[in-house]
Amino acid sequence: MAESSPDIVSRKKIVRAEVRARLTSLDGPLIERKSQSLAELLFSTSWWSLGEWIFIYIPMGGEVDTRYIVSRAYREKKQVAIPRMQGEDLAFYVYDGRTENLLPNQFGILEPDPTWKLIDPFAPTGRRLLILTPGLAFDRQRRRLGRGKGFYDRFLHGLRGAHPPGSSSWAVGLCFAEQLVESVPVSDYDEVLEGIVTDREVIR
Ligand SMILES: Nc1ncnc2c1ncn2[C@@H]1O[C@H](COP(=O)(O)OP(=O)(O)O)[C@@H](O)[C@H]1O
Ligand SMILES: [Mg+2]
Repeated sequence: MAESSPDIVSRKKIVRAEVRARLTSLDGPLIERKSQSLAELLFSTSWWSLGEWIFIYIPMGGEVDTRYIVSRAYREKKQVAIPRMQGEDLAFYVYDGRTENLLPNQFGILEPDPTWKLIDPFAPTGRRLLILTPGLAFDRQRRRLGRGKGFYDRFLHGLRGAHPPGSSSWAVGLCFAEQLVESVPVSDYDEVLEGIVTDREVIR
């Protein structure tokens, strides 16, 4: 199992608390406006125009709302894959245009019903993949801090073995400008992203 020094673990905790405190200043209507601005910026990138399969999370409270992105991807006939926590891993299911059959998991996060079509993200498909990741904090070196469970680190580690990052797959973090910090503390197993999109800018 991947290990981290106690120092890094406590520095990660401090940054998580700092950013969580900053996020309390964003109310629902502001989150919606910012999420729309972010989506427009994302649609202007080559990641978006090149990406054929879009891996995208459904937000929990306070995260960037991905609704505009999901529906635009679906309209553009991209394949949309939505994650579900299965044990230690993320399993991805194909979105069929209907969000009403997403079900809350034990943390209240909406997830696909396991009767949806499961996809194998590690299989060679010849498709270009765009993975849009959530996260609590990010920095300009494209480092990412999650909520401490390592789901996206494990997923990206496996994915990158199968699909070369930067040519047939891109992992791009989505966050509000308030979530950018000077420097995210990282461990060896923390996956660095290809880019970040906020409501104000694109970082590559
Ligand atoms: N590639 C990996 N293989 C196995 N375990 C991993 C891997 N990446 C991360 N982990 C585990 O996930 C846990 C949480 O990682 P952390 O980076 O703190 O979470 P997050 O990225 O969600 O903020 C770590 O204790 C680590 O052991
Ligand atoms: Mg991590």
